[in-house]
Amino acid sequence: MAHSGNILVTGGAGFIGSNFIRYVLEKTAFKGRMINLDKLTYAGNPENLSDVAKAYKGRYVFVKGDICDFKLVGQLFKKYQPSMVAHFAAESHVDRSIFGPKDFIETNVNGTFSMLEAARNFWNGRSDVRFHHISTDEVYGSLGRTGAFSETTPYDPRSPYSASKASSDHIARAYFHTYGLPVSISNCSNNYGPRHYPEKLIPLLILNALEGKPLPVYGDGKNVRDWLYVEDHCSAIWRILLRGEAGRTYNIGGGCELKNIDVVRSVCRLLERVRPSASNAALKGGSYSDLITFVKDRPGHDRRYAINSSRIRRELGWKPAHDFEAGLAATVDWYLKNPAWLAAVRRASYSEWLKKNYASRK
Ligand code: NAD
Ligand code: TYD
Repeated sequence: MAHSGNILVTGGAGFIGSNFIRYVLEKTAFKGRMINLDKLTYAGNPENLSDVAKAYKGRYVFVKGDICDFKLVGQLFKKYQPSMVAHFAAESHVDRSIFGPKDFIETNVNGTFSMLEAARNFWNGRSDVRFHHISTDEVYGSLGRTGAFSETTPYDPRSPYSASKASSDHIARAYFHTYGLPVSISNCSNNYGPRHYPEKLIPLLILNALEGKPLPVYGDGKNVRDWLYVEDHCSAIWRILLRGEAGRTYNIGGGCELKNIDVVRSVCRLLERVRPSASNAALKGGSYSDLITFVKDRPGHDRRYAINSSRIRRELGWKPAHDFEAGLAATVDWYLKNPAWLAAVRRASYSEWLKKNYASRK
Protein backbone atom coordinates (compact mmCIF):
# COMPACT_ATOMS: atom_id res chain seq x y z
CA MET A 1 0.00 0.00 0.00
CA ALA A 2 1.52 3.36 -0.97
CA HIS A 3 0.28 6.90 -1.07
CA SER A 4 2.25 9.87 -2.25
CA GLY A 5 -0.12 12.83 -1.75
CA ASN A 6 -0.04 15.00 1.38
CA ILE A 7 -2.10 14.24 4.48
CA LEU A 8 -3.54 16.89 6.76
CA VAL A 9 -3.77 15.44 10.27
CA THR A 10 -5.66 17.31 12.99
CA GLY A 11 -4.87 16.70 16.66
CA GLY A 12 -1.62 14.97 15.76
CA ALA A 13 0.12 16.09 18.96
CA GLY A 14 -2.31 14.07 21.08
CA PHE A 15 -2.28 10.41 22.01
CA ILE A 16 -3.71 8.61 18.97
CA GLY A 17 -2.80 11.29 16.41
CA SER A 18 0.89 11.22 17.36
CA ASN A 19 0.94 7.43 17.24
CA PHE A 20 -0.75 7.59 13.83
CA ILE A 21 1.81 10.04 12.38
CA ARG A 22 4.65 7.92 13.74
CA TYR A 23 3.07 4.72 12.40
CA VAL A 24 2.52 6.07 8.88
CA LEU A 25 5.95 7.67 8.55
CA GLU A 26 7.90 4.82 10.11
CA LYS A 27 5.98 1.70 9.13
CA THR A 28 4.23 2.26 5.79
CA ALA A 29 5.22 3.03 2.21
CA PHE A 30 3.76 6.56 2.46
CA LYS A 31 5.90 9.00 0.47
CA GLY A 32 4.13 12.35 0.89
CA ARG A 33 4.09 15.07 3.53
CA MET A 34 2.28 14.95 6.83
CA ILE A 35 0.88 18.29 8.05
CA ASN A 36 -0.12 18.27 11.71
CA LEU A 37 -2.59 20.99 12.77
CA ASP A 38 -2.90 21.05 16.56
CA LYS A 39 -3.95 23.71 19.05
CA LEU A 40 -1.78 22.18 21.79
CA THR A 41 -4.41 22.06 24.49
CA TYR A 42 -3.43 20.40 27.78
CA ALA A 43 -3.60 17.06 25.88
CA GLY A 44 -1.37 18.11 22.98
CA ASN A 45 2.35 17.69 23.46
CA PRO A 46 4.92 18.48 20.74
CA GLU A 47 7.32 16.18 22.65
CA ASN A 48 5.19 13.28 21.39
CA LEU A 49 6.75 13.83 17.96
CA SER A 50 10.03 15.67 18.57
CA ASP A 51 12.11 12.71 17.30
CA VAL A 52 9.84 12.28 14.26
CA ALA A 53 10.13 15.99 13.47
CA LYS A 54 13.93 15.60 13.37
CA ALA A 55 13.99 12.31 11.46
CA TYR A 56 11.44 13.40 8.83
CA LYS A 57 12.45 17.03 8.32
CA GLY A 58 10.69 18.27 5.19
CA ARG A 59 8.09 15.50 5.27
CA TYR A 60 6.60 16.40 8.65
CA VAL A 61 5.20 19.91 9.22
CA PHE A 62 3.73 21.14 12.50
CA VAL A 63 1.22 24.01 12.55
CA LYS A 64 -0.05 25.34 15.87
CA GLY A 65 -3.64 26.37 15.38
CA ASP A 66 -7.31 25.75 16.05
CA ILE A 67 -9.50 23.62 13.78
CA CYS A 68 -12.29 26.13 14.49
CA ASP A 69 -10.22 28.80 12.72
CA PHE A 70 -11.83 28.41 9.32
CA LYS A 71 -9.51 30.93 7.66
CA LEU A 72 -6.38 29.13 8.85
CA VAL A 73 -7.71 25.72 7.81
CA GLY A 74 -8.52 27.10 4.34
CA GLN A 75 -4.98 28.51 4.04
CA LEU A 76 -3.51 25.13 4.99
CA PHE A 77 -5.54 23.38 2.29
CA LYS A 78 -4.29 25.90 -0.28
CA LYS A 79 -0.67 25.76 0.83
CA TYR A 80 -0.24 21.99 1.26
CA GLN A 81 -2.88 20.66 -1.19
CA PRO A 82 -3.66 17.56 0.87
CA SER A 83 -5.47 14.68 -0.79
CA MET A 84 -6.40 13.17 2.57
CA VAL A 85 -7.52 14.46 5.95
CA ALA A 86 -7.24 12.35 9.10
CA HIS A 87 -9.36 14.24 11.61
CA PHE A 88 -8.40 13.32 15.20
CA ALA A 89 -8.58 16.70 16.96
CA ALA A 90 -11.09 16.63 19.78
CA GLU A 91 -11.65 17.14 23.45
CA SER A 92 -11.54 13.49 24.46
CA HIS A 93 -12.04 12.90 28.19
CA VAL A 94 -15.51 11.98 29.48
CA ASP A 95 -14.86 13.24 33.04
CA ARG A 96 -13.75 16.64 31.74
CA SER A 97 -16.88 16.83 29.58
CA ILE A 98 -18.98 16.38 32.72
CA PHE A 99 -17.19 19.22 34.52
CA GLY A 100 -17.06 21.54 31.48
CA PRO A 101 -18.92 20.60 28.28
CA LYS A 102 -18.37 23.91 26.42
CA ASP A 103 -15.00 23.10 24.87
CA PHE A 104 -16.39 19.76 23.70
CA ILE A 105 -19.15 21.43 21.71
CA GLU A 106 -16.77 24.06 20.40
CA THR A 107 -14.00 21.73 19.17
CA ASN A 108 -15.82 18.47 18.49
CA VAL A 109 -18.91 19.92 16.81
CA ASN A 110 -17.95 23.36 15.45
CA GLY A 111 -14.36 22.33 14.74
CA THR A 112 -15.45 19.30 12.73
CA PHE A 113 -17.87 21.49 10.81
CA SER A 114 -15.04 23.93 10.03
CA MET A 115 -12.81 21.08 8.74
CA LEU A 116 -15.57 19.59 6.59
CA GLU A 117 -16.54 22.95 5.13
CA ALA A 118 -12.92 23.82 4.28
CA ALA A 119 -12.44 20.40 2.64
CA ARG A 120 -15.62 20.86 0.62
CA ASN A 121 -14.53 24.31 -0.57
CA PHE A 122 -11.05 23.21 -1.49
CA TRP A 123 -11.73 19.81 -3.06
CA ASN A 124 -14.74 21.17 -4.87
CA GLY A 125 -16.37 17.94 -6.09
CA ARG A 126 -13.20 15.78 -6.42
CA SER A 127 -13.73 12.10 -5.75
CA ASP A 128 -10.05 11.02 -5.61
CA VAL A 129 -9.63 12.46 -2.10
CA ARG A 130 -10.66 11.36 1.37
CA PHE A 131 -11.81 12.98 4.63
CA HIS A 132 -11.54 10.43 7.42
CA HIS A 133 -13.34 11.30 10.63
CA ILE A 134 -12.09 9.46 13.73
CA SER A 135 -14.79 8.73 16.27
CA THR A 136 -15.64 6.55 19.22
CA ASP A 137 -17.86 3.59 20.10
CA GLU A 138 -19.29 5.76 22.90
CA VAL A 139 -21.75 7.29 20.40
CA TYR A 140 -23.73 4.04 20.57
CA GLY A 141 -24.48 4.38 24.30
CA SER A 142 -24.33 1.59 26.86
CA LEU A 143 -24.83 -2.16 26.37
CA GLY A 144 -26.47 -4.72 28.66
CA ARG A 145 -24.75 -8.00 29.50
CA THR A 146 -24.77 -9.32 25.93
CA GLY A 147 -24.38 -8.05 22.35
CA ALA A 148 -21.95 -5.70 20.66
CA PHE A 149 -22.14 -2.41 18.73
CA SER A 150 -22.30 -2.83 14.96
CA GLU A 151 -22.24 -0.08 12.34
CA THR A 152 -26.06 -0.11 12.27
CA THR A 153 -26.57 0.21 16.03
CA PRO A 154 -28.66 3.37 16.63
CA TYR A 155 -26.80 6.27 18.23
CA ASP A 156 -27.60 6.82 21.93
CA PRO A 157 -24.83 9.02 23.39
CA ARG A 158 -25.07 9.71 27.11
CA SER A 159 -22.18 11.98 28.12
CA PRO A 160 -21.43 15.48 26.78
CA TYR A 161 -18.29 13.93 25.18
CA SER A 162 -20.13 11.16 23.37
CA ALA A 163 -22.97 13.51 22.41
CA SER A 164 -20.49 15.94 20.84
CA LYS A 165 -18.79 13.10 18.93
CA ALA A 166 -22.18 11.77 17.80
CA SER A 167 -23.07 15.25 16.49
CA SER A 168 -19.82 15.44 14.57
CA ASP A 169 -20.38 11.96 13.07
CA HIS A 170 -23.83 13.02 11.85
CA ILE A 171 -22.46 16.22 10.31
CA ALA A 172 -19.63 14.29 8.61
CA ARG A 173 -22.10 11.75 7.22
CA ALA A 174 -24.37 14.58 6.02
CA TYR A 175 -21.46 16.06 4.03
CA PHE A 176 -21.16 12.77 2.16
CA HIS A 177 -24.87 12.43 1.41
CA THR A 178 -25.57 16.10 0.70
CA TYR A 179 -22.41 17.33 -1.01
CA GLY A 180 -20.75 14.08 -2.09
CA LEU A 181 -17.65 14.89 -0.01
CA PRO A 182 -15.71 11.58 0.17
CA VAL A 183 -16.03 11.05 3.91
CA SER A 184 -15.37 7.86 5.84
CA ILE A 185 -15.92 7.39 9.57
CA SER A 186 -14.50 4.97 12.11
CA ASN A 187 -15.86 4.30 15.59
CA CYS A 188 -13.24 2.73 17.82
CA SER A 189 -13.23 1.24 21.30
CA ASN A 190 -10.93 2.30 24.19
CA ASN A 191 -7.30 2.68 23.16
CA TYR A 192 -4.23 2.33 25.35
CA GLY A 193 -0.51 2.58 24.67
CA PRO A 194 2.47 4.98 24.72
CA ARG A 195 1.91 8.75 25.03
CA HIS A 196 -1.54 8.38 26.58
CA TYR A 197 -2.36 11.39 28.75
CA PRO A 198 -2.46 10.21 32.38
CA GLU A 199 -6.03 11.25 33.12
CA LYS A 200 -7.33 8.13 31.31
CA LEU A 201 -7.58 4.86 33.20
CA ILE A 202 -4.54 2.84 32.11
CA PRO A 203 -1.80 5.51 32.21
CA LEU A 204 -3.30 6.91 35.42
CA LEU A 205 -3.03 3.48 37.03
CA ILE A 206 0.57 2.99 35.92
CA LEU A 207 1.75 6.36 37.18
CA ASN A 208 -0.20 6.33 40.43
CA ALA A 209 0.97 2.80 41.22
CA LEU A 210 4.62 3.67 40.63
CA GLU A 211 4.24 6.67 42.94
CA GLY A 212 2.36 4.75 45.64
CA LYS A 213 -0.83 6.80 45.09
CA PRO A 214 -4.42 5.44 45.21
CA LEU A 215 -5.70 3.56 42.15
CA PRO A 216 -9.23 5.01 41.85
CA VAL A 217 -11.91 2.58 40.65
CA TYR A 218 -15.24 4.21 39.85
CA GLY A 219 -18.36 2.56 41.34
CA ASP A 220 -18.19 -1.23 41.67
CA GLY A 221 -15.39 -1.61 39.08
CA LYS A 222 -17.55 -3.89 36.94
CA ASN A 223 -18.03 -1.51 33.99
CA VAL A 224 -16.69 -3.15 30.85
CA ARG A 225 -14.55 -1.61 28.12
CA ASP A 226 -13.22 -3.25 24.92
CA TRP A 227 -9.47 -2.45 24.82
CA LEU A 228 -7.33 -1.94 21.70
CA TYR A 229 -3.60 -1.21 21.52
CA VAL A 230 -3.17 2.20 19.89
CA GLU A 231 -0.96 1.02 17.01
CA ASP A 232 -3.70 -1.41 15.97
CA HIS A 233 -6.12 1.52 15.80
CA CYS A 234 -3.59 3.40 13.64
CA SER A 235 -3.17 0.48 11.23
CA ALA A 236 -6.97 0.27 10.89
CA ILE A 237 -7.26 3.98 10.07
CA TRP A 238 -4.48 3.72 7.50
CA ARG A 239 -6.24 0.80 5.83
CA ILE A 240 -9.51 2.75 5.71
CA LEU A 241 -7.74 5.78 4.22
CA LEU A 242 -6.21 3.66 1.48
CA ARG A 243 -8.90 1.09 0.80
CA GLY A 244 -12.07 2.01 2.65
CA GLU A 245 -15.14 3.18 0.81
CA ALA A 246 -16.38 6.77 0.91
CA GLY A 247 -19.69 7.07 2.73
CA ARG A 248 -18.92 3.99 4.81
CA THR A 249 -18.52 3.59 8.57
CA TYR A 250 -16.13 1.07 10.12
CA ASN A 251 -16.20 -0.12 13.72
CA ILE A 252 -12.75 -0.88 15.14
CA GLY A 253 -12.19 -2.99 18.24
CA GLY A 254 -9.85 -5.50 19.78
CA GLY A 255 -12.43 -8.08 20.86
CA CYS A 256 -10.94 -7.61 24.31
CA GLU A 257 -13.71 -6.95 26.82
CA LEU A 258 -12.50 -6.44 30.37
CA LYS A 259 -14.07 -5.24 33.61
CA ASN A 260 -12.27 -2.17 34.94
CA ILE A 261 -11.30 -3.99 38.13
CA ASP A 262 -9.63 -6.70 36.04
CA VAL A 263 -7.67 -4.05 34.14
CA VAL A 264 -6.52 -2.61 37.47
CA ARG A 265 -5.46 -6.06 38.71
CA SER A 266 -3.59 -6.74 35.44
CA VAL A 267 -1.63 -3.49 35.79
CA CYS A 268 -0.76 -4.35 39.41
CA ARG A 269 0.35 -7.88 38.48
CA LEU A 270 2.49 -6.65 35.60
CA LEU A 271 4.15 -3.97 37.73
CA GLU A 272 4.92 -6.55 40.44
CA ARG A 273 6.80 -8.46 37.74
CA VAL A 274 8.75 -5.62 36.12
CA ARG A 275 9.15 -3.20 39.07
CA PRO A 276 8.46 -5.24 42.24
CA SER A 277 6.73 -3.24 44.98
CA ALA A 278 9.26 -4.60 47.49
CA SER A 279 11.97 -2.59 45.73
CA ASN A 280 9.83 0.54 45.22
CA ALA A 281 10.28 2.89 48.18
CA ALA A 282 7.06 4.77 47.31
CA LEU A 283 5.05 1.65 48.25
CA LYS A 284 6.37 1.73 51.87
CA GLY A 285 6.33 -2.05 52.16
CA GLY A 286 2.84 -2.54 50.68
CA SER A 287 1.94 -4.07 47.34
CA TYR A 288 0.50 -2.36 44.26
CA SER A 289 -2.90 -3.96 44.77
CA ASP A 290 -3.09 -2.43 48.29
CA LEU A 291 -3.51 0.90 46.47
CA ILE A 292 -6.84 -0.08 44.83
CA THR A 293 -9.47 2.38 46.09
CA PHE A 294 -13.15 2.31 45.16
CA VAL A 295 -14.44 5.88 44.69
CA LYS A 296 -17.75 7.54 43.89
CA ASP A 297 -19.02 6.57 40.44
CA ARG A 298 -18.89 8.82 37.38
CA PRO A 299 -22.35 10.34 36.71
CA GLY A 300 -24.10 8.55 33.82
CA HIS A 301 -21.27 5.97 33.69
CA ASP A 302 -21.89 3.71 30.66
CA ARG A 303 -21.93 0.11 31.88
CA ARG A 304 -20.54 -1.84 28.98
CA TYR A 305 -18.99 -1.23 25.55
CA ALA A 306 -18.19 -4.01 23.07
CA ILE A 307 -17.43 -3.70 19.40
CA ASN A 308 -18.36 -5.93 16.51
CA SER A 309 -15.53 -5.18 14.08
CA SER A 310 -16.37 -7.89 11.54
CA ARG A 311 -16.89 -5.34 8.72
CA ILE A 312 -13.34 -3.94 8.72
CA ARG A 313 -11.89 -7.43 9.26
CA ARG A 314 -13.91 -8.89 6.36
CA GLU A 315 -13.83 -6.01 3.87
CA LEU A 316 -10.37 -4.57 4.51
CA GLY A 317 -8.54 -7.58 5.96
CA TRP A 318 -7.60 -5.71 9.14
CA LYS A 319 -6.92 -7.44 12.44
CA PRO A 320 -5.17 -6.31 15.62
CA ALA A 321 -1.56 -7.45 16.03
CA HIS A 322 -1.40 -7.11 19.84
CA ASP A 323 -3.36 -8.93 22.51
CA PHE A 324 -3.97 -7.19 25.85
CA GLU A 325 -1.05 -8.86 27.61
CA ALA A 326 1.48 -7.85 24.93
CA GLY A 327 0.00 -4.35 24.53
CA LEU A 328 -0.03 -3.68 28.27
CA ALA A 329 3.56 -4.91 28.63
CA ALA A 330 4.68 -2.57 25.80
CA THR A 331 2.76 0.30 27.40
CA VAL A 332 4.22 -0.15 30.89
CA ASP A 333 7.67 -0.52 29.38
CA TRP A 334 7.25 2.79 27.51
CA TYR A 335 6.16 4.67 30.65
CA LEU A 336 9.07 3.23 32.63
CA LYS A 337 11.53 4.31 29.96
CA ASN A 338 10.21 7.86 29.47
CA PRO A 339 10.37 9.68 32.82
CA ALA A 340 11.12 13.02 31.11
CA TRP A 341 7.84 12.85 29.15
CA LEU A 342 6.00 12.19 32.39
CA ALA A 343 7.67 15.03 34.23
CA ALA A 344 6.72 17.45 31.44
CA VAL A 345 3.10 16.28 31.37
CA ARG A 346 2.88 16.55 35.12
CA ARG A 347 4.24 20.09 35.07
CA ALA A 348 1.68 21.09 32.46
CA SER A 349 -1.59 20.39 34.21
CA TYR A 350 -2.10 16.78 35.18
CA SER A 351 -1.78 17.28 38.93
CA GLU A 352 -4.14 20.27 39.09
CA TRP A 353 -6.70 18.30 37.13
CA LEU A 354 -6.42 15.34 39.50
CA LYS A 355 -6.78 17.57 42.53
CA LYS A 356 -9.94 19.16 41.13
CA ASN A 357 -11.31 15.82 40.01
CA TYR A 358 -10.82 14.18 43.38
CA ALA A 359 -12.16 17.19 45.30
CA SER A 360 -15.45 17.00 43.41
CA ARG A 361 -15.84 13.30 44.11
CA LYS A 362 -15.80 13.55 47.92
P1 NAD B 1 -6.15 13.48 22.98
O1 NAD B 1 -7.00 14.25 23.94
O2 NAD B 1 -4.97 12.74 23.48
O3 NAD B 1 -5.62 14.45 21.82
C1 NAD B 1 -6.43 15.40 21.21
C2 NAD B 1 -5.53 16.34 20.42
O4 NAD B 1 -6.37 17.30 19.74
C3 NAD B 1 -4.55 17.13 21.29
O5 NAD B 1 -3.27 17.14 20.69
C4 NAD B 1 -5.14 18.54 21.30
O6 NAD B 1 -4.16 19.56 21.46
C5 NAD B 1 -5.82 18.61 19.95
N1 NAD B 1 -6.92 19.58 19.90
C6 NAD B 1 -7.93 19.73 20.80
N2 NAD B 1 -8.73 20.75 20.42
C7 NAD B 1 -8.22 21.25 19.28
C8 NAD B 1 -8.61 22.29 18.40
N3 NAD B 1 -9.69 23.04 18.65
N4 NAD B 1 -7.86 22.54 17.30
C9 NAD B 1 -6.75 21.78 17.04
N5 NAD B 1 -6.34 20.79 17.84
C10 NAD B 1 -7.07 20.52 18.95
O7 NAD B 1 -7.19 12.53 22.23
P2 NAD B 1 -6.98 11.05 21.66
O8 NAD B 1 -7.24 10.08 22.73
O9 NAD B 1 -5.73 11.02 20.91
O10 NAD B 1 -8.21 10.96 20.65
C11 NAD B 1 -8.07 11.36 19.28
C12 NAD B 1 -9.39 11.10 18.57
O11 NAD B 1 -9.75 9.72 18.66
C13 NAD B 1 -10.57 11.89 19.15
O12 NAD B 1 -11.36 12.35 18.09
C14 NAD B 1 -11.31 10.86 20.00
O13 NAD B 1 -12.67 11.17 20.06
C15 NAD B 1 -11.07 9.59 19.19
N6 NAD B 1 -11.09 8.33 19.95
C16 NAD B 1 -10.34 8.19 21.07
C17 NAD B 1 -10.35 6.96 21.74
C18 NAD B 1 -9.48 6.73 22.96
O14 NAD B 1 -9.56 5.68 23.58
N7 NAD B 1 -8.62 7.66 23.34
C19 NAD B 1 -11.13 5.90 21.27
C20 NAD B 1 -11.89 6.10 20.12
C21 NAD B 1 -11.85 7.32 19.46
P1 TYD C 1 -11.43 6.34 30.61
O1 TYD C 1 -10.02 5.93 30.45
O2 TYD C 1 -11.72 7.70 31.17
O3 TYD C 1 -12.14 6.12 29.20
P2 TYD C 1 -13.73 6.20 28.80
O4 TYD C 1 -14.46 6.91 29.86
O5 TYD C 1 -13.68 6.95 27.52
O6 TYD C 1 -14.16 4.76 28.65
O7 TYD C 1 -12.14 5.28 31.54
C1 TYD C 1 -12.16 3.89 31.25
C2 TYD C 1 -13.01 3.21 32.28
O8 TYD C 1 -12.36 3.29 33.56
C3 TYD C 1 -14.36 3.86 32.49
O9 TYD C 1 -15.33 2.84 32.76
C4 TYD C 1 -14.19 4.75 33.70
C5 TYD C 1 -13.17 3.99 34.52
N1 TYD C 1 -12.23 4.79 35.32
C6 TYD C 1 -12.01 4.46 36.67
O10 TYD C 1 -12.60 3.50 37.20
N2 TYD C 1 -11.11 5.21 37.37
C7 TYD C 1 -10.44 6.27 36.81
O11 TYD C 1 -9.65 6.95 37.53
C8 TYD C 1 -10.68 6.59 35.44
C9 TYD C 1 -9.98 7.75 34.80
C10 TYD C 1 -11.58 5.82 34.74
